[in-house]
Amino acid sequence: MMEEMVGSVLVVDDEADIRNVVRRVLAKVSDVPVLDAGTVAEAVSLLGAHPISVLFVDLGLPDGQGFDVIDAALARSKDVSIVVMTGESSVDHPISALRRSVADFLLKPFSRAALLDAWERAAQRQRENASRPRPSVRAKERPSTDVWREVHAPEIVGEHPSLHDVFATIERIADTDATVLITGESGTGKELVAAAVHSASKRTGAFVTLNCAAIPENLMESELFGHVRGAFTGASGARNGCFVEAHGGTLFLDEIGEMPLALQAKLLRALQEKRVRAVGEDRERTVDVRIVAATNRDLEEHAEAGLFREDLLYRLSVIPIELPTLRDRRSDIPLLVRHFIALSNQARGRNVDGITSEALDMLSAYGWPGNVRQLRNLIERIVILKAEGWIGPNDLPARVRATGPTALGGDPLEPQLPAGGIDLRDAVERFENALILQALERTGWNKNQAASMLQINRTTLVEKLKKKDLKPASGG
Ligand SMILES: Nc1ncnc2c1ncn2[C@@H]1O[C@H](COP(=O)(O)OP(=O)(O)OP(=O)(O)O)[C@@H](O)[C@H]1O
Ligand SMILES: [Mg+2]
Repeated sequence: MMEEMVGSVLVVDDEADIRNVVRRVLAKVSDVPVLDAGTVAEAVSLLGAHPISVLFVDLGLPDGQGFDVIDAALARSKDVSIVVMTGESSVDHPISALRRSVADFLLKPFSRAALLDAWERAAQRQRENASRPRPSVRAKERPSTDVWREVHAPEIVGEHPSLHDVFATIERIADTDATVLITGESGTGKELVAAAVHSASKRTGAFVTLNCAAIPENLMESELFGHVRGAFTGASGARNGCFVEAHGGTLFLDEIGEMPLALQAKLLRALQEKRVRAVGEDRERTVDVRIVAATNRDLEEHAEAGLFREDLLYRLSVIPIELPTLRDRRSDIPLLVRHFIALSNQARGRNVDGITSEALDMLSAYGWPGNVRQLRNLIERIVILKAEGWIGPNDLPARVRATGPTALGGDPLEPQLPAGGIDLRDAVERFENALILQALERTGWNKNQAASMLQINRTTLVEKLKKKDLKPASGG
């Protein structure tokens, strides 16, 4: 198969040992010629003389940066597969490798198996490149069925298209071992989605959660990898870490953005090598674990600030799932409200009948900075206090009522800040929505004309409509 590769492999590292290892390992599995260079200058001159298909490159080179080599390679061919070899201490890549179509990362020192994994992925990409041009027709994602949802995600309520996309992704990747990174604001349901990913998989082992924000830094390593008896003060017995507990199953690393830098390298090594070593142990154990991570932080920003390893981010986000905020799927609010009223009635022995449409409109208009969790907590509180009857506007907190349609008062271009303050994001969004709707209504929902009235691109308008779930009033 490898013989399909048209160009050579180029290995760039100032350490001769690394160059030799890569050379030797690749020679066993492929006939592709392997060239190597110890400096940027040598690498650039080889790039000028030979077509290169796969580039293994170290970032710190004696006469410059690995990025200089990457740029030179990409300038010659967009199709080159790039594998960046990083060291344990290199976190501060001044320019984001993620933005340079880097294909893979290898943390040094790496095992033969990890190198072959990276090679296999690079070769696969070369095969895909070779079989172009065919427009990448991905079969349209099947919407997951009600039965599938009932079985794997019974707790996740919502019918908004953005949520259906999430379910379709979970279903599509269920049987793979690919690492999943779930992002989304606080309270958007990341934990529920992580559990659904495990449930939908065929993995028979346990679903183990580690909340990285809740574990003190000095205990994190032992939480992850375990320790032997007496490994440190207080380690009276041996303990299996989360990796071993999740063997054959799924390890959910919640709040991964809080993982200390020193441990990020160890985590990356475990993911790359599929082996872990308990604290105080000299033997490694092989583990088969599917990783799902979640964060409400912008990890790319963290990476750029040197707080999160870019190579780890790359490895975690093989399958990214971004959860919509509640204000981006307002049409689900009535469903969620009814669901939470029923849940709270049951859990708290209450008998609330339901909610008036006026109160529901107010809940639907509010901004929900705390997303579904905030809505759930609010409904639960109201149900407990009210005990029975219908939830009306007077049962809602002032800040929710304040987002009623007249909250801004007077001329919308000279708004009056209500005495109790306002949810700025929500107010701005509703202002935007009102103008968009008027432009659409005035043009009979002609998106080209409406976009030009608003002086935005048609695609921007279409994206906004999808995101905001705005539709003609008649419903069509
Ligand atoms: N789509 C949904 N349907 C029903 N309940 C939901 C949904 N999304 C979230 N919830 C509920 O909202 C609460 C918060 O959800 P979850 O803990 O999964 O959020 P999170 O994204 O992990 O938040 P954080 O970033 O703060 O950890 C939970 O009680 C959960 O059951
Ligand atoms: Mg959470």
